Amino acid sequence: MKEIKRKDLLDITTLSLEEIRLICDSAKYFKEIFTRSVKKVPVLRGKTVVTLFFEPSTRTRISFELAAKRLSADTINIAATTSSLVKGESLIDTVNTLEAMNADFIVMRHPGSLAPHFLARHSKASVINGGDGNHAHPTQALLDAYSIIEQKGSLEGLHIGIVGDIKHSRVARSDIEIFQKMGAKVTLIGPPTLLPDEFKVYGCGISYDLDRVLPDLDVVNMLRIQRERQKGSHFPSIREYAKYFSLTRNRLKNCKSDIVVMHPGPMNRGIEIDDYVADCENAIINQQVTNGIAVRMSVFYLLSGGTPLEGVEPVE
Ligand code: CP
Repeated sequence: MKEIKRKDLLDITTLSLEEIRLICDSAKYFKEIFTRSVKKVPVLRGKTVVTLFFEPSTRTRISFELAAKRLSADTINIAATTSSLVKGESLIDTVNTLEAMNADFIVMRHPGSLAPHFLARHSKASVINGGDGNHAHPTQALLDAYSIIEQKGSLEGLHIGIVGDIKHSRVARSDIEIFQKMGAKVTLIGPPTLLPDEFKVYGCGISYDLDRVLPDLDVVNMLRIQRERQKGSHFPSIREYAKYFSLTRNRLKNCKSDIVVMHPGPMNRGIEIDDYVADCENAIINQQVTNGIAVRMSVFYLLSGGTPLEGVEPVE
C-alpha cells in the first residue's frame, strides 16, 4: 500500500489490515527520530492541530500534542471546561469556529459514542478519534498493536487476554478488533457483570476465571476499573474484585516467563494490577506511552497524504 486515502481516523472497524500495517511501519521510522538530539521533522510545518477534549486525559492529549509538535505543526489545546462550551455553545458552533480558523486536524475525545464521527461529517479538517464514550479508541489500539509487534515480532498466532472492565472499555473494543485483524487469538476475562453477552459477537474467547486462562497467555492487557462510567455496583467490593481479577506478583508466577504485561493507563494500582507487576520487567506500560507518540506521528503523517518512508522494514 502506497498511502492512506482517508480524511479521518475514527475507529479500527473501518481500518484495513493494510492501513494498520502502514501506520505501524511508519511509526517505526518516527520512533527512530526520538533517539536524535533534535527530535523534530518538518512534515506538518504550516499545519494546525487542535485537540478538543471533553473528558480528562493525561496520556492521549499530551501524546497527540507532542506528536504534532515533533512534526512541526502549530498546536492548540481546547479543554471543554475552559471553552465557550460551558457557556452553552453547541458542538456544531464550536466546529464552525474551528473551521473558520482553518484547523487542519482536530483530535477529539468525548463522553458520547460517535461524537467524533459527527464532527468528521461537519468538518473539512481531518478528525482523529481520541476516545469516544465506550465505543472506540483507535490510536490506543494502534499503539498497543505496535508495542506487541516490538516485543514479539508479530501478533500472528499469539494468545492475548484482555482483563477487567470490558463492558465500559473503548480500549477493549478497539483492541479486540485490531488484535483479531492482525491474527491473534483474543480471550476476554472478567466478572460476568463486566463482560456482558454483547461481546460474543466478536467471536473471541470469554472467561470468568483469570487463573485458568493466565498460563496460556502470551500477552495480558489489564484494564482500569472505570468507576466513573459504572452505574450501580458490578462487584461486591474492590477487595473482592482484586481477589479474583488483579494481576498480582503471585499470579505472575503462573504465567509464561516471557508474558507481556500491558495497561493503557491510568492504572489503579492495587486494584487491577499490583505494584510489583506494574513495575516488573514483563510490563511494557511506559513503552506503550513512548510508542503512542510515534504511532500518532505516523497517523498525522499518513492522513496528511504521506507515502511510505524509505528504509523501513515492513511489520508482520
Ligand atoms: N490510555 C488513555 O486513554 O489514557 P488517558 O485517559 O490518560 O488519555
